[in-house]
Amino acid sequence: MKIGVIGAGGIGGTIGTLWAKAGHDVFFSSRNPEKLSELITGENTQVGTVAEAAKFADVLLLACYYSTIDEAISAAGSLDGKTLIDATNPYLREEGKLHRVPDASSGLELAAKLPNTKVVKAYNTLPTATFANEAHRSEPYAVFYCGNDSEAKAIVSQLITDSGFVGVDTGDLNQVIHQEPGGVLYNHPMPVEQAQKLIRSLI
Ligand SMILES: NC(=O)c1ccc[n+]([C@@H]2O[C@H](COP(=O)([O-])OP(=O)(O)OC[C@H]3O[C@@H](n4cnc5c(N)ncnc54)[C@H](OP(=O)(O)O)[C@@H]3O)[C@@H](O)[C@H]2O)c1
Repeated sequence: MKIGVIGAGGIGGTIGTLWAKAGHDVFFSSRNPEKLSELITGENTQVGTVAEAAKFADVLLLACYYSTIDEAISAAGSLDGKTLIDATNPYLREEGKLHRVPDASSGLELAAKLPNTKVVKAYNTLPTATFANEAHRSEPYAVFYCGNDSEAKAIVSQLITDSGFVGVDTGDLNQVIHQEPGGVLYNHPMPVEQAQKLIRSLI
């Protein structure tokens, strides 16, 4: 699959590299693509501008800070018809500390801004270190995802498997409240069976 990563820092660089290892074609991007050369690990990886990544890809991972989402999607150009995996969380940095923006949902806001894009929330609930160090466990960790388009969700579920985790569907995009900071699914690495049990008790 042709995948673009918008915001190839800790989370974007890590997930994109897991996909590249699984054989996908991954185009990493940021505002400063000249700093991303270490992410080129083979012929199926490349780096460039956000617009180039968006043009290249069928599926995109958005992994920039909450404060730069508007800038990033504006730089991407049209994302109509594409699947966009939103890994962002609504935190702002103030006086050196991260603060959760009260009542904000980056997933729902993104879907409202991009009505013709298939937004799937995923990869936002676990720390970068978990993705970097715990992929392909014998008892895989769950990666929660939700969205409104079933075909896009099926693609994302397969990409989660390819990255060494197992996707657990939490429902439509309104369920994002459980996945974003403050929700019960946020920042709790857990094996799949435990995750599915938890979901049954929630939804
Ligand atoms: N850290 C975690 O454990 C974790 C886990 C799950 C989800 N998340 C979420 O993932 C997002 C990224 O977090 P992170 O820890 O990966 O941050 P990070 O390491 O600082 O990476 C952010 C990346 O976004 C790029 N960027 C910033 N503004 C951009 C723009 N307008 N267009 C394109 N790229 C842009 C940055 O590069 P340039 O500045 O060079 O453009 C950088 O490559 C956040 O929303 C965070 O809440 C983080």
